[in-house]
Amino acid sequence: MDKFVIRGGNPLVGTIRVSGAKNSALPCMAAAILTEDEVILENIPLVRDIDTQRRLLQSMGAEVERPEFNAQHSTTISCRTLSEPVARYEIVKTMRASSLVLGPLIARTGAARVAMPGGCAIGGRPIDLHLKGLEKMGAAITQEHGYIEARVDARVGRLHGAHIVFDKITVTGTEDLLMAAALAEGETLMENCAREPEVCDVAALLTAMGAEISGAGTATIHVRGVSSLHGARYRISPDRIEAGTFLAAGAITDGDLIVANCNTAHLGAVITKLEEAGARLDLLGPDAVRVRAHGKLRAADISTEEYPGFPTDMQAQYMALATQAEGVSLVTENIFENRFMHVQELVRMGASIKVDTSTATVRGPARLSAAAVMCSDLRASASLVLAALVAEGESVVDRVYHMDRGYERIEQKLSGVGAQIQRLGNLFAPREAESLAG
Ligand code: UD1
Repeated sequence: MDKFVIRGGNPLVGTIRVSGAKNSALPCMAAAILTEDEVILENIPLVRDIDTQRRLLQSMGAEVERPEFNAQHSTTISCRTLSEPVARYEIVKTMRASSLVLGPLIARTGAARVAMPGGCAIGGRPIDLHLKGLEKMGAAITQEHGYIEARVDARVGRLHGAHIVFDKITVTGTEDLLMAAALAEGETLMENCAREPEVCDVAALLTAMGAEISGAGTATIHVRGVSSLHGARYRISPDRIEAGTFLAAGAITDGDLIVANCNTAHLGAVITKLEEAGARLDLLGPDAVRVRAHGKLRAADISTEEYPGFPTDMQAQYMALATQAEGVSLVTENIFENRFMHVQELVRMGASIKVDTSTATVRGPARLSAAAVMCSDLRASASLVLAALVAEGESVVDRVYHMDRGYERIEQKLSGVGAQIQRLGNLFAPREAESLAG
């Protein structure tokens, strides 16, 4: 299992570049199922989850080019033949976002068989809202032997439009039903939708493929279904969570870092909070931001919310920063239960954190000392790396395969701006037990 060895104490200085958004690329790859033509996606991040999605599509009969083999980091996906519209458990169990193929598969082929994702390190994470929506669009859904079977009545042949009001805001649920609605007969009105930029990426790709969609990025999305979609080329937006992680890294290490290739419009809540915590942030244009420590960091509370609120995917990294801030910071997690797995490990490094149900009380500044720590999920790993960057001595961060699910060659990016970080082991070696979080 790969490990990072990190010697803390170096301020990060220079320019660090953000890759494409994993959480946009995953649904956009699934959207390719909706057409027989080629879909070309650029700016694909070279991370493990993307590789998993590629293998999933290939297992269904699709042809998927590997993005690591060209400078554009692009992939060409052809779903001309989908010989097996099945998402097998062996793949779904390693990445919960595999359920994103459900809507496209049933919309394109009239039938889908997708393994149920099961439990996950950051809570139950059901997909009941995806299923409810597809049922409203005319799919008959049964669950047997750990699989979800969805079918459209052969006499009808296609999903139909529906009025869907999400009980709860769900990002992949919104994307899944949006993709299904694009090829459904008639109009679909979706309310209480997720407004995340990743949903906008999916809507923009579908529009380029010939879909008729309005309202993406707001709570109400309207789709006029079309009978077929065609190929398209689309560039995936920058990863706002990777960008936020780098901003936190610049601030926590007392550095002077330019985070380039990002979309600053997607970073509002994170930038505002880092400023409140005492960091200095300067926008250098629409795609770059400079972060500098500006005297001592000070405590500031966060409470995770759906976009445009503070992202749950930045909660763990912010908590690492809060351990270095003067005063008491309250960190409240509202989106997922059980998303404080990083706390124990931060405490082992010397942080003072107490958890009471969904709120963690962080007292700072704490003198962090290097330790052997273990990653439990994707964003928890990022928080441990941030803590190790300021801890005294040499930390060993184990199980970095969690980090590799969503961060492209993070050790190379961080060492390029002065971090002392080294990987022990082989990136993309055969994987061991994986978590589904993030
Ligand atoms: C996506 C992101 C993940 C991020 C999360 C919240 C991807 C691939 N992953 O995950 O990184 O942390 O959004 O921003 O884009 N829920 C239900 N029923 C459902 C679906 C969701 O109860 O059918 C609940 C979940 O348990 C959770 C909340 O809704 O409490 C939000 O989950 P959701 O937005 O669906 O998260 P994901 O789309 O899985």
